[in-house]
Amino acid sequence: MSQPSPVGPVESMPTAPAPGLAPAAEPDPPFAPDLSIGSSSTTPYEDYVQADVLTHLQHPLSDDPGEMVFLVTTQVMELWFTVIVHEWSTAAEALRRDDLPVAMAALGRSIHELEALNAAWKPLARLTPAQFNSYRSALGEGSGFQSAMYRRLEFLLGEKSASMLVPHRGAPREHAELEKALQEPSLWDEVLRLLARRGHAVPEAVLRRDPALRYEADPAVEEVWSAVYAGSQESDLVRLGEVLTDVAELVWRWRNDHLVATRRAMGAKVGTAGSAGVAWLEKRARKNVFPELWTARSHV
Ligand code: HEM
Repeated sequence: MSQPSPVGPVESMPTAPAPGLAPAAEPDPPFAPDLSIGSSSTTPYEDYVQADVLTHLQHPLSDDPGEMVFLVTTQVMELWFTVIVHEWSTAAEALRRDDLPVAMAALGRSIHELEALNAAWKPLARLTPAQFNSYRSALGEGSGFQSAMYRRLEFLLGEKSASMLVPHRGAPREHAELEKALQEPSLWDEVLRLLARRGHAVPEAVLRRDPALRYEADPAVEEVWSAVYAGSQESDLVRLGEVLTDVAELVWRWRNDHLVATRRAMGAKVGTAGSAGVAWLEKRARKNVFPELWTARSHV
């Protein structure tokens, strides 16, 4: 993006002084942006942000004026999912290289991004059933359940499931990205491998587990975290544990905000993707992210 230009707008640009004459007066600060920046077809801002593309991707399916905010909130959340997947992938890669500072920086950024993601619930948090009904039927069988980026986010947390690829079988790029994410070690797998390299007794079976399977909590991993948390509170592993606990808590908050918004908007009706709706979401929201980070606290 362009920095504020020291040069004034076209109409007030200083002209070169004629020989022998005093220099033309500089325009008084603050200078206005330079209106000459940009070509006949685009601007540097547009080249970078693609705002014209982004702001023409809203195609409501009903005549209801309230549908626009539902659609845009969903799109905004998709963008946040994309940023968070990027941060957690950066963190996982950095952990693999034992680069804790880079991992901590990415995880730290993701905390603020998760807070912004969760704040995006505001406009949808109090939909009445009648308001939601105004455009619900237009959504057909469309549901956030079919969000490929959310699925990648869950896979990075260790919530793997090959069957979650099925809805994406008709979209080659999404399917390939999900297949890759399914086979790769999750962020949690990388954390446990780092703990093992630091001399902690993470069981071989956990270290060599099939990364495409859902992570199941392990009592030995709980013991490792209890020992880490019982030690120096200044240690980098305690700081890692805490930032991961923040991640886990904020993901839990997203799931719960989604659950409550759904309960308010549609009660116990069946979901558009055919699930039991609220009852199914309740089961999903009960899942603990990074489970041993929570249970270990009982033993410190
Ligand atoms: C208040 C409006 C909303 C309602 C009533 C609602 C309802 C539901 C329901 C009932 C499900 C279960 C699957 C099914 O459709 O049968 C679901 C899943 C899901 N929804 Fe929403 N939703 C809402 C807003 C959103 C928004 C804005 C997003 C953002 C992308 C979103 C993302 C998701 C995701 C990712 C899942 C899958 C969750 C999982 O796999 O655990 N939802 N939603």
